[in-house]
Amino acid sequence: MFSKEQILKALSKVFHPEKGKDIVTLGMISEIESGENGISLTIVPEKSNDPFISSIRSTIVKTIKEVLGPNAVINEIKVQPKVIVGKQHEKHREVLPEVTNIIAVSSGKGGVGKSTIAVNLAIALARKGFSVGLLDADVYGPSVPKMFDAEKYRPEVKRENNTDHIIPLTKYGVKVLSTGFFVDQADPVIWRGPMASNFLKQLITQGEWGVLDYLLVDLPPGTSDIHLTLVQEVPVTGAIVVTTPQDVALADAVKGISMFRSDKINVPVLGLVENMSWFTPAELPSNKYYIFGKEGGKKLAEKMKVPLLGQIPLIQSICEGSDNGQPVALGDSLTGNAFMELAVALVERVNERNKDKRPTVKLQITK
Ligand SMILES: Nc1ncnc2c1ncn2[C@@H]1O[C@H](COP(=O)(O)OP(=O)(O)OP(=O)(O)O)[C@@H](O)[C@H]1O
Ligand SMILES: [Mg+2]
Repeated sequence: MFSKEQILKALSKVFHPEKGKDIVTLGMISEIESGENGISLTIVPEKSNDPFISSIRSTIVKTIKEVLGPNAVINEIKVQPKVIVGKQHEKHREVLPEVTNIIAVSSGKGGVGKSTIAVNLAIALARKGFSVGLLDADVYGPSVPKMFDAEKYRPEVKRENNTDHIIPLTKYGVKVLSTGFFVDQADPVIWRGPMASNFLKQLITQGEWGVLDYLLVDLPPGTSDIHLTLVQEVPVTGAIVVTTPQDVALADAVKGISMFRSDKINVPVLGLVENMSWFTPAELPSNKYYIFGKEGGKKLAEKMKVPLLGQIPLIQSICEGSDNGQPVALGDSLTGNAFMELAVALVERVNERNKDKRPTVKLQITK
């Protein structure tokens, strides 16, 4: 067994080929452990697609042996992209002070796959090692409980210091709260606008979210009171807009993007996700059928000058996984990997945004 200091000293002999500094000075090392099976560590590159990662890995294995002797073996090297903390965190903020990034998942049109994308992205981010929360803000049609196979889950509410604290469900590595956890799914939910907004406020402010790298918020379709409540209640880091490639969805996606970009709301659009980009049947996995048109989302992203974060095909297993409460992002199938790639694209986009954008402030409504 080796001490952390010994290991760090050895690692300081490993240089990043491009940056010309050693990986310890560059702050690329986190979590070192020396156990019976050898040394495990996590490297945190600034970019997850850093082309030098594999050469750094092999240099670490070699250098550890050279410096600490032949008994020093590497058990595991994990790679985790860095979470850059945005300027919104430089100031103390009252609401969700321990949540680094709040991401709204929205669309113009209903049924394009917001919830599917939000749920699978949350699971993929958790599998990458981030701490993740998912808030299902679709008070009118919550679909997250079914997708987590948790329709019967009723959150515990703890009363402390005269405030109720709502305990989220923790499943698949994600902390989840849904309006659907509080109502019987068979009953039609009739909300007056202010009731829905108040309920959402409670889930945001009284949810025991704890420390999170990302809180994803699955929004109802279109542009509603719920959207306003969210941007009034919390400083949203940015929004993802989901669309399918067909014209009717694209037209509504433009409205969604314009809403976030409007002077009143002013939330950065992190990117567009094109869902149901093509259909691939299970028995012909290399065939692509562009049933909703080809690359409509991609072209819209170019036109509106928003990054295209990813294209997700229409695949039966995605729908089945959601219906069975076993989202595809839990596994390493082709579709599971598509969501892992989407997660990496999102992390990088959020980091870029946090480097150069001013903090999003809460929207103030003056009457
Ligand atoms: N890529 C995909 N492949 C297969 N099925 C999909 C895909 N994306 C979404 N679906 C299915 O399409 C339906 C609608 O998706 P989802 O509920 O995620 O959309 P939504 O935008 O959240 O809808 P709403 O506007 O009602 O909230 C669901 O049955 C879902 O399983
Ligand atoms: Mg939905």
